[in-house]
Amino acid sequence: MSDNESKNGRPLRSARWFRKNDLPGFVHRSTLSAAGWSREDLMERPVVGILNTWSDINPCNLNLRTLAEEARVGILEAGGIPFEVPLMSISENIIKPTSFPFRNLLAMEAEETIRGYPFDAVVLLGGCDKTQPALLMGAASAGVPFIFLASGPATPRSASGGNLANATGVWRLVDQLRAGELSEGDFAAFERSVMGTAGHCAEMGTASSMAVICEALGVSLPGSSLVPAVDRRRHQLAREVGRRSVRMAADGSPRPSEVLDARAFDNAITLLCAVGGSTNVIIHLLALAGRVGVPLTLERFDEIARRVPLIANVQPAGEHLTERLMAAGGVPALLKTLGPLLHLDARTVDGRTVGAILETAEVFDSDVIRPLDKPVKPGETMVVVKGNLAPDGAVMKTCAANPKLFRHRGPAVVFEDVQTIADQIDNPELGIDENSVLILRNAGPVGAAMPEWGMLPLPRHLMERGVRDMLRISDARMSGTAYGAAVLHVSPEAAIGGPLALVRDGDIIELDVAARRLELCVEPDELERRRQAWQAPPSRHVRGYRNLYNQHIEQAHLGCDFDFLRGANEDTLPEGLFDGWVGGW
Ligand code: FES
Repeated sequence: MSDNESKNGRPLRSARWFRKNDLPGFVHRSTLSAAGWSREDLMERPVVGILNTWSDINPCNLNLRTLAEEARVGILEAGGIPFEVPLMSISENIIKPTSFPFRNLLAMEAEETIRGYPFDAVVLLGGCDKTQPALLMGAASAGVPFIFLASGPATPRSASGGNLANATGVWRLVDQLRAGELSEGDFAAFERSVMGTAGHCAEMGTASSMAVICEALGVSLPGSSLVPAVDRRRHQLAREVGRRSVRMAADGSPRPSEVLDARAFDNAITLLCAVGGSTNVIIHLLALAGRVGVPLTLERFDEIARRVPLIANVQPAGEHLTERLMAAGGVPALLKTLGPLLHLDARTVDGRTVGAILETAEVFDSDVIRPLDKPVKPGETMVVVKGNLAPDGAVMKTCAANPKLFRHRGPAVVFEDVQTIADQIDNPELGIDENSVLILRNAGPVGAAMPEWGMLPLPRHLMERGVRDMLRISDARMSGTAYGAAVLHVSPEAAIGGPLALVRDGDIIELDVAARRLELCVEPDELERRRQAWQAPPSRHVRGYRNLYNQHIEQAHLGCDFDFLRGANEDTLPEGLFDGWVGGW
């Protein structure tokens, strides 16, 4: 086997650019000689792309520039050629109108970047919420071996009162502020503390949830996800990732479809449930599964959730931040505890099976990582409900909600958009009491690009009386750092005529978590009359990416991918057809 052949005897993918003694080979090699690479280097050594979502407008990804440098060192050490490519950086709290539509845009950018360049393997560097799933989706479709490294959790600072400031704390303080229990000054002090360092949110929000499930999916190195962003161990990890990527490049394996199979998704969902992770990850996993042809459904999440207890004592469902989870043994220790519920023969980019990785794992703190029979809270961490209000399903993170609301019947108070909530929620004339069911619609994938508006604020007069949770239903998402009895991702959404569009103030809504039911208690004839009278809201987007998005976005129960991006479709650059063509010269 020559140096530029993979184990299976196939030439390296990059050989199609660099090994040919023809004009294209000449052009490709001479172009990159300007970057310092010799003809011999390019002809003989595996090429690894480093896809980097660093930006200084995205503090969650701020350390990725350094990690890319470390990965580059690792690639060089192992005999590979590194090329770093900057990709779109989606900064969750900054980008408008909402980060969600850009996940698919970045996924497309990642896929075509990988496919278009001579990479034998890629290192993916992401952190903030949407950068992680987008990179995975793009790389899965491109079909080139990849390994993922997250930026790592930020290290929180102490805020007033000695508490560690974090995003979940913000939601609590907002409630206290509205209830008149906190001064504006104390709230402002928290603002200065909450984003302590580079790195993603440090509780089990969406970014941490995605990072840990990357280990369960087998696409990250074991034990890598929870090492803090500012910890030197993350630099070492980046080097190791670089070295490992060269091995994968040389082997041509494992390809994404060899890792991301049905077993990997089951393992990821199991871990997601065990850590009380973000409901956003449900959408991302559905979309990712669609990319590799795994027939994952919303029902599978509910099936797995029924048998997995909450064993990670981390916020927002538990007490601690991810640093404690890391110290307790991290993801390998969590997976070891979950061993009886996992597919231990699933493959990973580490080169070992999940079972082999767990042999050396250990739990160091049984309060933070609980045994299966001593969970943090009883019952499922999440449920999927269906009924005439959500025929294709909706989700609820039950571990972060008041169980008194799991069986609830109350009158609807309907809001058409988030601005109306801001203007009206405290209006006493709406007659909202603690039994009311707050409805937000037109916030789904088509309606408003699915922002994290699902944790609707509670009326001030109820907050002042000590009410801290109410049943809220929407076609929106909810921040992974948030909590509350929020039924989310109602599908089909209101903006395309789903039943949520037909609810009127005062209609009785019934939720029964145990029975997995969500019903709008209105006679079918009346609902049909309303359906006939319903008119779709006009689209606000007639051009550009947002127009493309609105035409092709799928509903939440399918993962909100674009319909034209579904399906297993690995490395479709036709062999030979474009190899003899040189563009640009
Ligand atoms: Fe970026 Fe939370 S805001 S991870």
